[in-house]
Amino acid sequence: MTSAVDEAQLEAGFQATIDRKDRIEPRDWMPDAYRRTLVRQVAQHAHSEIIGMQPEGSWIGRAPSLRRKAILLAKVQDEAGHGLYLYSATETLGVSRDELTEMLISGRQKYSSIFNYPALSYADVGTIGWLVDGAAICNQVPLCRTSFGPYGRAMIRICKEESFHQRQGYELLMTMMRGTDEQRAMVQESVNRFWKPALMMFGPPDAESANTEQSMAWGIKTHTNDELRARFIEMTAPQAEALGVTLPDNELDWDEFWTVVKGGGPCNEQRIAHRKQAWDDGAWVREAAAAFAGLDTSSPRGSDYSITGRQS
Ligand SMILES: [Fe+2]
Ligand SMILES: [Fe+2]
Repeated sequence: MTSAVDEAQLEAGFQATIDRKDRIEPRDWMPDAYRRTLVRQVAQHAHSEIIGMQPEGSWIGRAPSLRRKAILLAKVQDEAGHGLYLYSATETLGVSRDELTEMLISGRQKYSSIFNYPALSYADVGTIGWLVDGAAICNQVPLCRTSFGPYGRAMIRICKEESFHQRQGYELLMTMMRGTDEQRAMVQESVNRFWKPALMMFGPPDAESANTEQSMAWGIKTHTNDELRARFIEMTAPQAEALGVTLPDNELDWDEFWTVVKGGGPCNEQRIAHRKQAWDDGAWVREAAAAFAGLDTSSPRGSDYSITGRQS
């Protein structure tokens, strides 16, 4: 049991570490609210990588050539890897992978709203790489210096791969733009659908973003939503021009954003149903792997701390 004085000292030491731009590591003391914020953010990020495999994954069997299939397979597989690094980083905060998956499936934890939009044409594979992975890079490069060590280190490798994803998307769109009128129209139509949802990936405007201030004081976030959104537009506008597409220029619909976040987007139900099915189908694999490793599956690793704040 720590006294109020001890706790104040621990908190001061914690904040000093952050202010020096050093990392907080899993064994270090941290305030409960910092731990909860990180669990929410890193898990949401992990879930986004895993759910994000679905829209593009649906095109693997319909890729127009062997080369395009190989590229898309590698890209989607990278996203699975990102999800795994990030689930591991979340586990260092004392939540088990099973608990995280359960919170995703039950809707208690969220994932990026962008993945609730369908991929309707092959041009969408290019647009997702260019705009969605592009927006992810803007969000994630600053996170390489985030205050929690395992998260920051996972981001360094993830960012390298996201940058490859962005280029492969751009290369696909460039190839289509050099093709027929019909292909050019497909690209423009796809960009029209994805541009605004991609801008909304940065989250609500700063004035409405409840968590930003505290997250910045803790060094979890280093830039505000609006700053990152502006940076992304700046980066993307010249690329759109080189590509020969027009970026739609109208107001973002934040009511739509909140509807999609709360489960009312075009694909929310389908995404979660698919994830649940995959999780259920994989139960025997997890059991077999645990039995092979001689583990007791009734006490999953890391579950000595639950995010409700109970500690045993
Ligand atoms: Fe990723
Ligand atoms: Fe990616």
